[in-house]
Amino acid sequence: MTASTDHDPTRSLEFPQGFLWGAATAAHQIEGSPLADGAGPSIWTRFAHTPGMTFNGDTGDIACDHYHRWKDDVKLMRELGLQAYRFSVSWSRILPDGTGRVNQKGLDFYSRLVDELLANDIEPLLTLFHWDLPAALDDRGGWLNRDSADWFAEYGRVLYRALDGRVKKWVTLNEPWVITDGGYLHGALAPGHRSKYEAPIASHNLMRAHGAAVQAYRAEGSHEIGLVVNIEPKYPASDSQDDAAAVRRAHAYMNEQYLHPALLGKYPPELKQIFGDAWPDFPEDDFKLIVQPLDFVGINYYTRSVTRANDSYPLEAGAVRQPLGTYTETGWEVFPQGLTDLLVWFKQTYGDLPVYITENGAAFFDPAVAEGGRVRDPLRIDYLRKHLTAIHDAIAAGVDVRGYMVWSLLDNLEWSLGYSKRFGIVHVNYGTQERTPKDSARWYSGIIASHGRKLSDPLPY
Ligand code: BGC
Repeated sequence: MTASTDHDPTRSLEFPQGFLWGAATAAHQIEGSPLADGAGPSIWTRFAHTPGMTFNGDTGDIACDHYHRWKDDVKLMRELGLQAYRFSVSWSRILPDGTGRVNQKGLDFYSRLVDELLANDIEPLLTLFHWDLPAALDDRGGWLNRDSADWFAEYGRVLYRALDGRVKKWVTLNEPWVITDGGYLHGALAPGHRSKYEAPIASHNLMRAHGAAVQAYRAEGSHEIGLVVNIEPKYPASDSQDDAAAVRRAHAYMNEQYLHPALLGKYPPELKQIFGDAWPDFPEDDFKLIVQPLDFVGINYYTRSVTRANDSYPLEAGAVRQPLGTYTETGWEVFPQGLTDLLVWFKQTYGDLPVYITENGAAFFDPAVAEGGRVRDPLRIDYLRKHLTAIHDAIAAGVDVRGYMVWSLLDNLEWSLGYSKRFGIVHVNYGTQERTPKDSARWYSGIIASHGRKLSDPLPY
């Protein structure tokens, strides 16, 4: 199918009633003060403070200082007209040792934030885990320890009891593929391991933890819970059979490795072939825990990859650069059609589960804040417009997409890339902490206010 991502003023791009428009962030990327008020360290505090692990030695110690500026940040969301805000909770603020003792002050921080969002008519979407595992749990083996499923359910229970009702949309994990591929296979992300043998075990325990947290939610909570995955459509570099087979493997590794067990209760068979002797025989009973009924799936979409057959791919990165492609500052090709394709694939493969686009956005080189407080970011506007149009195409094709969270509300800590990449629709001056909405934020406000109709207006450049 073909997405009409080019500007067409005759198209009506109104979105379905109740479509939720918002923005997303994650605790470690914006909060700063990771050890304040009795919080324990996380693996990211530890990793970033290890020399050589992050660009420029950047850490999350200050970040966007959201831990102190949350009230103003909510005010800003309100001014932009956001209807929803996806954020994550830092596990080690709530349970400094990962399990056991609850730190009330940590809980109070999120409780106040949620109240403030609700007072401003902004719906909270809460992610339990966006990568900042308590360091105390890493000391016990982290995601390699089968007990991690119980640890995660215990942590979930504390939050469900404190916030369910005020929070009506919950997410267990953010992007298990990145946690494992970056943290246990290639080592670019915390905890920085590089082991083909550890990766499938960490993935499997993450999925068991997801299942256990959903199960605990059904006992404690009465609203909605889902899983967030990053998926990336794979296209062959040529029409050779070898490339087609490579695409199949890459797709199984990145896209089906998590959705298949969570929604179908099994792994795709290619994983055994990809990991070889590193792929364990997992106990059958584990799948009963993993496959829990979900209320929605969150999809994070940034790019596609074009795949060429190569013995080590998909365990080594293997995307082929497109000579005519447009690339972002993180080296990702801008490919909105891929979002339509994968949403249609999702529906065909997993059925009519509601979907939220829980992240989508781009790092581009932004100019400094100009006099009068303007940041011109036409490439980001173009990116967002094309991707929103691609989502509209998927809705028109029958996919039940319920909302869109732009990544990110604020420029923030891009993990090991430090502060070198800016994804925000709001510019952050890291010296003064001043926030300046970029042109993309103003444009997005107009899209929200018009319920998408303004997507077919000419761009403001
Ligand atoms: C993550 C974010 C990250 C973004 C851009 C996603 O993989 O969930 O934390 O900042 O991509 O790289």
